[in-house]
Amino acid sequence: MANLLTSRALPDYFAKPRAVWRGLTRRLAAIMPKGLYTRSLLIVILPMVILQIVITYVFMERHWQLVTHQLSTALVQDIAAIIDIHNSYLQDKNNDTLARIAQERMNINIEFMPKGPLPPPLPKPFFSIVDAALSNEIRRQIARPFWLDTVGRSNLIEIRILLDNSILRVVAYRSAAYASNSYIFLLWMVGTSCVLIVVALAFLRNQIRPILRLVTVAEAFGMGRDAEFKPRGAREVRRAGYAFIEMKRRIERAIDQRTAMLTGVSHDLRTILTRFKLSLALLGEVPDAREMRQDVEEMQRMLEAYLAFARGDSGETTARLDMRQLLEALRNEAERHGANVKIGYTGDPFVMVRPAAFKRCLANLVGNAFAHAENVKIDAQRDQRFLTIHIDDDGPGIPPERREDVFRPFFRLDAARNQDEGGTGLGLAIALDIARSHGGDITLADSPLGGLRATVRVPV
Ligand SMILES: Nc1ncnc2c1ncn2[C@@H]1O[C@H](COP(=O)(O)OP(=O)(O)OP(=O)(O)O)[C@@H](O)[C@H]1O
Ligand SMILES: [Mg+2]
Repeated sequence: MANLLTSRALPDYFAKPRAVWRGLTRRLAAIMPKGLYTRSLLIVILPMVILQIVITYVFMERHWQLVTHQLSTALVQDIAAIIDIHNSYLQDKNNDTLARIAQERMNINIEFMPKGPLPPPLPKPFFSIVDAALSNEIRRQIARPFWLDTVGRSNLIEIRILLDNSILRVVAYRSAAYASNSYIFLLWMVGTSCVLIVVALAFLRNQIRPILRLVTVAEAFGMGRDAEFKPRGAREVRRAGYAFIEMKRRIERAIDQRTAMLTGVSHDLRTILTRFKLSLALLGEVPDAREMRQDVEEMQRMLEAYLAFARGDSGETTARLDMRQLLEALRNEAERHGANVKIGYTGDPFVMVRPAAFKRCLANLVGNAFAHAENVKIDAQRDQRFLTIHIDDDGPGIPPERREDVFRPFFRLDAARNQDEGGTGLGLAIALDIARSHGGDITLADSPLGGLRATVRVPV
């Protein structure tokens, strides 16, 4: 027993409850609503409902029971009095006077029936204080066999009591034994809270809408679309909105700066390269000059590619692009290079993208495919949310451990093999950049054709 309290035993001792607790919280998190709107609704409504249930239970139950109890006591007192009079004053032969007094003074209807067995007891109603209160009182004050019906008729109750040589049948108003207007209280409470909940719903919706708007605008910006946005709502939400606008402006300024710089650089370098080529041309057909000319060509090509990469797709706006047309154009282009291309498309052909950039992205991937393979298959499908394009080839493919590297700028797998066969190693980097700027991604995998499968997925 003693070693149970040592520090070693403690973790084991608590491990199980902790695991149970963790499991519980995880399950709770799984069933809890995920949206801000539903969550805040729960936060507002749940306490209200719980509070009402507690109030109803504690207050109403007490109050109700007390009032019903007292009313029942009074009714049974009346009945006991009638029985006493009936037993003590036998001169009222037909009990007419008694019936009249009961009717006029006590507002209950009595009748003496010939002696016989009482009807079998009725099943107890599920939720009836009045039944219990009356039974108790009759047992306490009258102490004779009785039969009770509190549910048969909606606003009347019937009691039969076995007397020495007759049966007393009493019909009284239910309200004489029962605090029925407590229902009104309940109704008011539920009604008011329903109205309040509706009001809360409306206000909450207004509070959530600016947040949703901010989300949409931020998402659109991520996908390269520009949307009009004016911060609204609570102070914190508005501040988040202004912060977002400020951030967006900074990003746009940075992009503009980069574009301006690149234009300058490309202009300057191109001028120098042109001068260089001119001098080489003037040099005439010297063996050294030919190599230099080739180097200059190479340099120019690399410069162009690099600038294209660095420039990205800045400045272009989104527009509707007919995907089927684009795929057709890609196929024609590839077939001119001697590749065999199959294309397939399902879904709505029109997508919102930056057309030139998106074309370049696909052209780079398809270009890679027919540079390494003979048969190429382009399969595109578009559903509610995504445009997915698979580009399959039957070439050598890319081993899985290199699939991340090939996206790096200037990285070429076959650099050693065919150095002079064009290619700067920027194609995939550019394509990925474009896909990401559309809020999408490019993944590489094994193709069913045996080579590489490149998959472009962008939200539409
Ligand atoms: N479909 C493919 N099959 C096999 N290897 C591929 C395929 N696509 C790309 N690669 C490999 O990935 C490397 C990087 O491709 P990337 O398009 O970035 O550059 P590149 O094609 O060499 O040059 P660029 O596209 O700039 O002219 C390539 O050098 C090639 O080795
Ligand atoms: Mg390429």
